Amino acid sequence: MACLTAGDCAMARLLDAAGVPLVLVGDSLGMSMLGFANTLPVTMEQMLHHTAAVARGVSNALVVADMPFMSYQASEDDAVRNAGRFLKEAGADAVKIEGGAFRAPLVRRLVQNGIPVLGHIGLTPQAVNEIGGYRVRGRTAPEADALAADAKALEEAGVFAMVIECVPVELGERVTREVSVPTIGIGAGPHCDGQILVLSDFLGMTESPPKLAKAYLSLADEIKGAVARYVDEVAQGTFPNEAQCYK
Ligand code: KIV
Repeated sequence: MACLTAGDCAMARLLDAAGVPLVLVGDSLGMSMLGFANTLPVTMEQMLHHTAAVARGVSNALVVADMPFMSYQASEDDAVRNAGRFLKEAGADAVKIEGGAFRAPLVRRLVQNGIPVLGHIGLTPQAVNEIGGYRVRGRTAPEADALAADAKALEEAGVFAMVIECVPVELGERVTREVSVPTIGIGAGPHCDGQILVLSDFLGMTESPPKLAKAYLSLADEIKGAVARYVDEVAQGTFPNEAQCYK
């Protein structure tokens, strides 16, 4: 499964037409689209707005909405209500929440209430202040064992799949072997069942992309070049020409 994130209808339409099976409306859009320094300021209203736009562009892919920071942490009741809004108001098919075994009771409750959950373990960006930066997780044996136990707990709680972010290749392989639900890796090596990339990284729109990212286009350069040509043509008076004029 080659999965991507999206934050607007036009992009979602293209990904869907190209056969991407799962489109995640990731809260990384806080950085890539909204200009925040990290994902923490992203609100429910912003995620609902972007999820609804993506859902309008998708006919086949599974649309997963990322639950933003503090929309599911304070209480389970809040979490169920907020998760429900993504399905009821924004047209998402499922939600994603970050965290391991300690999230199992919440996952169970969401699933019991008809809300499919995508787990997210390893580097969990909403915990950046607690972790102390964006670091590879599970590098020591005890950390790796804890992460594998997290994956098992999430599986038992009922996630339909889980994102594994920024862990050594061996741990991505181990978790994929040990759980029966699909693993979707981002910086977790080639052995995961699927991969996911943040769309802005994929398109070459991120100024300092992380090591785990691969740009399949250089869109930032393409756009800058096109804008420079446009500015030049307007200055020279060569745009618009006959082809763009009404008679
Ligand atoms: O927010 C996001 O884009 C994500 C991906 C990195 C999986 O959570």
